[in-house]
Amino acid sequence: MTVNSEQAAWWDTAGHGWAQIQDVVGLVLRPYQDLLVEAASRRPRRRVLDVGCGTGGTTRAIAAATGAGCVGVDISETMLAAAREHGEAEFVKADAQVHAFEERFDLVVSRFGVMFFDDPVAAFRNLLAATTPGGELCFVTWRTAEENPVMTTSSRVAASLAPDAPAPDPDGPGPFSLADAGRTRGILAEAGWTDVDVQPVDRDCVMPEELLVPYLSNMGSIARALRERPESERGELLRKIRGEYDPFVRDGEMHFPGGVWQVTASAPL
Ligand SMILES: C[S@@+](CC[C@H](N)C(=O)[O-])C[C@H]1O[C@@H](n2cnc3c(N)ncnc32)[C@H](O)[C@@H]1O
Repeated sequence: MTVNSEQAAWWDTAGHGWAQIQDVVGLVLRPYQDLLVEAASRRPRRRVLDVGCGTGGTTRAIAAATGAGCVGVDISETMLAAAREHGEAEFVKADAQVHAFEERFDLVVSRFGVMFFDDPVAAFRNLLAATTPGGELCFVTWRTAEENPVMTTSSRVAASLAPDAPAPDPDGPGPFSLADAGRTRGILAEAGWTDVDVQPVDRDCVMPEELLVPYLSNMGSIARALRERPESERGELLRKIRGEYDPFVRDGEMHFPGGVWQVTASAPL
């Protein structure tokens, strides 16, 4: 069953571009994968669930580092098709908010895959039901847009390309829906998790400058807005868009200063 059908439709479309440049995404978001791999490696793990696993890079990295059996769950078939090409883990198509998992996991992780639930309390309660007593939850989620200036630039560019598109609901599902640490603590406590801990982590995410244009033309709202323009206009538009990111480029590299919360919690014994 899928309850987050708008998100499923969005990620099925966005997944094509994401899959196309999965290696670039893997490079840029690598520091956050490393945080989760480190957390997963702190004690022996038997079964690990990666929620909103996308193309599965983090799922595979945790499987390799811990030797645990890893399962990635995602709502998007296009993301999962790319994930399955690599093997090394199991990948399940489901809406993590409501899916009745058939087994229990001693660790549930996510890299930016748990901010898209229309009912986050129900979703985290469902994930708790899939966790062994004493098992752990560990995920990373973006702090505010102001603390992630590259994403603010991208939102501004996307809004200028599609001025009639409705403004995103700041409290609705989206990349910043868990940016308020107090709200996140409340959601997890209401869902039944204990020992909730929310820590700020800052990382500089880096990629070679020449990957910036392929990145922009395949990612999210900018890619969608570009697709809706006549092909003859796209090259010039892309050149202009690229210029907006000049403040983040130095010495042939693009630097994304990224501010996230690393959130951990335990399942009651
Ligand atoms: C920002 S992407 C992150 C992908 C991956 N974790 C990574 O870091 O590369 C968010 C992912 O969450 C998935 N997702 C969104 N809502 C979901 C839901 N209700 N259940 C399962 N996956 C979901 C999307 O399809 C997408 O692949």
